[in-house]
Amino acid sequence: MDDGLTEIDPGGTDASPAGFPAARGGGRKVFVRTFGCQMNVYDSERMTEALASSGYAETSAIEEADLVILNTCHIREKAAEKVYSDLGRVRAVKQERASAGAETVVAVVGCVAQAEGAEIVRRAPVVDLVVGPQGYHRLPELIARTRAESRSLVDTEFPEEEKFAHLPERAAQRRTTAFLTVQEGCDKFCTFCVVPYTRGAEYSRAVEDIEREARSLVASGVRELTLLGQNVNGYHGLAADGRTYSLADLVCRLARIEGLERLRYTTSHPRDMSDDLIAAHAAEPKLMPYLHLPYQAGSDRILAAMNRKHTAREYVDLVRRIRAAKPDMALSTDIIVGFPGETEEEFSETLAVFEEIGFAAAYSFKYSPRPGTPAEKLDSQVPEAVKMERLARLQSMIERHQSAFAARCVGRTLPVLFERHGRHPGQLIGRSPYLQGVHAAAGAEYLGQVVPVEISSCGPNSLAGVIRPE
Ligand code: 5AD
Ligand code: SF4
Repeated sequence: MDDGLTEIDPGGTDASPAGFPAARGGGRKVFVRTFGCQMNVYDSERMTEALASSGYAETSAIEEADLVILNTCHIREKAAEKVYSDLGRVRAVKQERASAGAETVVAVVGCVAQAEGAEIVRRAPVVDLVVGPQGYHRLPELIARTRAESRSLVDTEFPEEEKFAHLPERAAQRRTTAFLTVQEGCDKFCTFCVVPYTRGAEYSRAVEDIEREARSLVASGVRELTLLGQNVNGYHGLAADGRTYSLADLVCRLARIEGLERLRYTTSHPRDMSDDLIAAHAAEPKLMPYLHLPYQAGSDRILAAMNRKHTAREYVDLVRRIRAAKPDMALSTDIIVGFPGETEEEFSETLAVFEEIGFAAAYSFKYSPRPGTPAEKLDSQVPEAVKMERLARLQSMIERHQSAFAARCVGRTLPVLFERHGRHPGQLIGRSPYLQGVHAAAGAEYLGQVVPVEISSCGPNSLAGVIRPE
C-alpha cells in the first residue's frame, strides 16, 4: 500500500471557495502521509475526498503542496516519534516554499494529534493545525480559520455530531479493493494500549449508512470490502427497523450486494468472536476464510496483566471451534514480547501457543510503554536487549510457519482477485482468499475479476501461478 496515498479526481479545482486562495496552476494541492493502521488509511482517503470538494487535488510531491497532512499513529513510541522527524523535513519544505512566495498549511491529524494536542505545536511550531481522528470532517473550515487568524489551532474534541454524517459521499474509486470503517474506538482497555484514549469509546455506524457507502464503492468498481474497526467484531449497529445488527448480520446483509465478490473484516478481539460470526464463515461464501485474531501472549499471568479477558486455553479452544466450522480458515495474529514482568518461561508459552495453532501470518512487536496506560507504570519493565532477543526468536518461528503455509498452497488452484498490473509486462497481481499476493501472466481484462489460479511456486512474500479460467 503505497504510503496510504490515494489518487483522486481533481474535478472542479478551478472554483476557489471563499477563504482559499487559488494556488499556482489554478488548483490547490494536498499532500497526505499516512502512518499506522488501516483505519488511518481509510481516514486519509475520506479526508482527501472531503478536501477535493473544497478544491484540493492530491499530490505525491510534497514541494508542490499548499496543504501538508500527516495522519499519525500513537500505538508504539517509534510510530509517534516518526512524526517529529517528518515534521523536521516538512519545516524545510515550508521555508523553501515561503521564500518562493507560496504559503503552506501543515496539519497533524490522527492519534498523535489526539494524544499530544497543543504539545505538538510547542515541539514543532511549523504545525498550523492539530486535529484528532474524530474531527477531520472539519478540516476545510479549520484550514480557513488558521489562515484567517494566522495562528495554530488545536481541535481534539470528541464531537457530539458524527463525523460520517458530515463527510461527502464516497468519490469514484479506481481500484478493486477498499476499506470501510464500520466501528471505531475500543472499550477493552488492554493495559498496554492507547487506543481507548486516542480513539475513544466504542461506536458502531448505522447499518444503512454502511450499506450506502458499500453500494457506492461497488458501483464504482470495488469488488472486495474490508470492514474496519478497532474492535470490529464488537460491532452492534442500529438498523432503520430498530434492530441491532451484529457483525455477522452486517456481513450477511452486505454480501447481498450484487457485484461485491469478497468481504473481510479486521481487527477482532477473541472475546467478541460470537457463534453467529463463526457460523457466518461457514454459511457465507463471500466472507473470506482469513481471520486476524490477536492473542498477544501465551501466558495466563501475562494475559491477565494485559487485561485481555481470556486465557491461552480459551483462545486455543476458540480457534478449534472456528476451524471446526470452517476447516480452511487461515489465521493471523498480533503478539507482544517483553510485556512488563514477562519471564523466559512465560515467553516460551507464547511460542508454544504459536506452534500449536500454526498461524498463516503474524505481526510481532516489542512492548512499548505508552503514556497514560496502566502497563507503563509497572516497574518490572523488561530490558531492551531481552525484548530484542525474544522478538528475533519469535520472528524466526513466524517466518517458518508463514513459509510452510505458502508451500502448502503450491499445487492448489485458488480463486484470485486481480487488483493491479505487476512489474513485468503482461503480469497481474491479485490476492488469494488468504490475503497472499499472487502473480500470474494475465491480460488486463482480468483486472477486477476473481479467476482460478493454479499456484506453481512461492516466495517469501507472494505466490506465483498460472490462470485456469473456467
Ligand atoms: N507496545 C507494543 N505493541 C503494542 N500494540 C498495541 N499497543 C502496543 C504497545 N504499547 C500492538 C498489539 C495490537 C497491535 C495493533 O499493536 O499487538 O494488537
Ligand atoms: Fe487496544 Fe486492546 Fe482495544 Fe485492541 S482490544 S484496540 S489492543 S485496547
